[in-house]
Amino acid sequence: MHAILSRLRHRKVRSRIQQAARPSRAPGLRDSDALRYAIAALAWVIGLWLVAPAGLADWRALAARGVALLIIGFGGQMLLRVKEAQEPRPRGTWLLLLVMLLLAMADVRLARWGLVHLLPLDSARFDPLYVAPHAFVPLLVAMLYGGQTALVVGLTAGVAVALAAGFDLAVFLLSLSATAVAAYEAPALRYRSQIARTLGRIALWQTPIVLVMTLMNPDGTDLRTVGIRIGALVLWLAVSGVLVMLALPPAERLTQRISDYSLNGFADLGQPLLRRMALEAPGTYHHSMMVADLAQAAAERIGGHGLLARVGAYFHDIGKLGRPRFYMENQMQGGNPHDALPPNISRMIIVNHVKEGLVLARLHHLPDVIARFIGVHHGTSVIRWFHHKAVSQAGASAGDGGMGVADESHYRYAGPLPVSREETIVALADSVEAAARTLPRVTPGHLENLVNAIFKAKWSDGQLDASLLSNAELARVRASFVFTLTHLLHARLAYPSHEQNPNPPSAAAASG
Ligand SMILES: [Fe+2]
Ligand SMILES: [Fe+2]
Repeated sequence: MHAILSRLRHRKVRSRIQQAARPSRAPGLRDSDALRYAIAALAWVIGLWLVAPAGLADWRALAARGVALLIIGFGGQMLLRVKEAQEPRPRGTWLLLLVMLLLAMADVRLARWGLVHLLPLDSARFDPLYVAPHAFVPLLVAMLYGGQTALVVGLTAGVAVALAAGFDLAVFLLSLSATAVAAYEAPALRYRSQIARTLGRIALWQTPIVLVMTLMNPDGTDLRTVGIRIGALVLWLAVSGVLVMLALPPAERLTQRISDYSLNGFADLGQPLLRRMALEAPGTYHHSMMVADLAQAAAERIGGHGLLARVGAYFHDIGKLGRPRFYMENQMQGGNPHDALPPNISRMIIVNHVKEGLVLARLHHLPDVIARFIGVHHGTSVIRWFHHKAVSQAGASAGDGGMGVADESHYRYAGPLPVSREETIVALADSVEAAARTLPRVTPGHLENLVNAIFKAKWSDGQLDASLLSNAELARVRASFVFTLTHLLHARLAYPSHEQNPNPPSAAAASG
């Protein structure tokens, strides 16, 4: 019996070794790849329908368009990869490219259909290819993904639209001009007025194109037709602007990105949530404003998204609205309610401000990209004050130093860790601001020591492990914090000649 069992065990072990030695799966299409190919094939079929010549009888023209569409798709994908190698983006931009290609081609098709069926206009004069909303796709991508992606997607879409127009150079030039202006103006697309100005600049580029291409027509075209086409072009640009405004909110939800235009709305201090914070938790409100100033300056110093860091900082502590008096910055003259509580209960209250903040964010429809700042701003750091209190209380009662009774892991936030550069900057600025507030004397030397100590503590505690900030960027963020803090706290500044003690209080006191 024993021999049989031993042989069976042997065979089991051998089969496990063989399994491990075998390649886990033959290299081929992974499930997600199969899905990608299926979506790309579907997009190709829809695209072919959009660019098909009138009637499907001319199979040669159809085949040429099919091959051209394939080349355009591959070309766009390659360009996106070149761009992503320089600046990593979330995965899935290939899908964006496909959708935008189809949208751009559908624009032309819709414009043509609308002209023929809805408006009693002379289609020779109102050539829809000249007046399709060419600015829609590049403008939308520029607002969501920035100038570089807009350039890639807009150029690729321009070729596709020219193909839909029967390889028309003028249509490509119209699309190219809209793309170039939208990509160039991408960082400035924050207000409605700036979007209108960008559309005006596109009109300035497109007008001479329509003028020249119409007059070059061998059939000869009168100036009245040129005037009608330019008027229609300006009208369509206005339509493009309206379409972008309508498409932006659903596009932001789908791509989980946020445009500067929408961020601007959240940066408004008159919002109910921020006004409530100013009234009910003035200390937290002031702290959030200071963190916002620190974070925006640092993010801009490293070429990051300053406005996103600012807005993330505004909302990072909204969870404190539930019990404002339990946080140091709101305890003006009144006593500290934690004095009467065991450290374990205090820990629960403090940790909950992250969870309650996330609930408030959902109730007030804050986008995920902003709500993430609430969830990650403490990472998995330890609530030092209450951990020390627990250790000393346990030590006093058990005489064992309290270790094991007040386990450090019990006093940690649940995380997750900050990932993006802006999230990391806000997390660091949060700790730096909270600690700077406790400095009895503020000198440039004290501030520099304090910032260095906090960065070192965060680093050695693993709080920066998931962060995309490079070491060089961290050094620039540190320098920016010292510079901004020195200016923000200049009223409290004691200059080095009066300095008695260069050592700042411990960075461990920092919490925000
Ligand atoms: Fe904070
Ligand atoms: Fe906080």
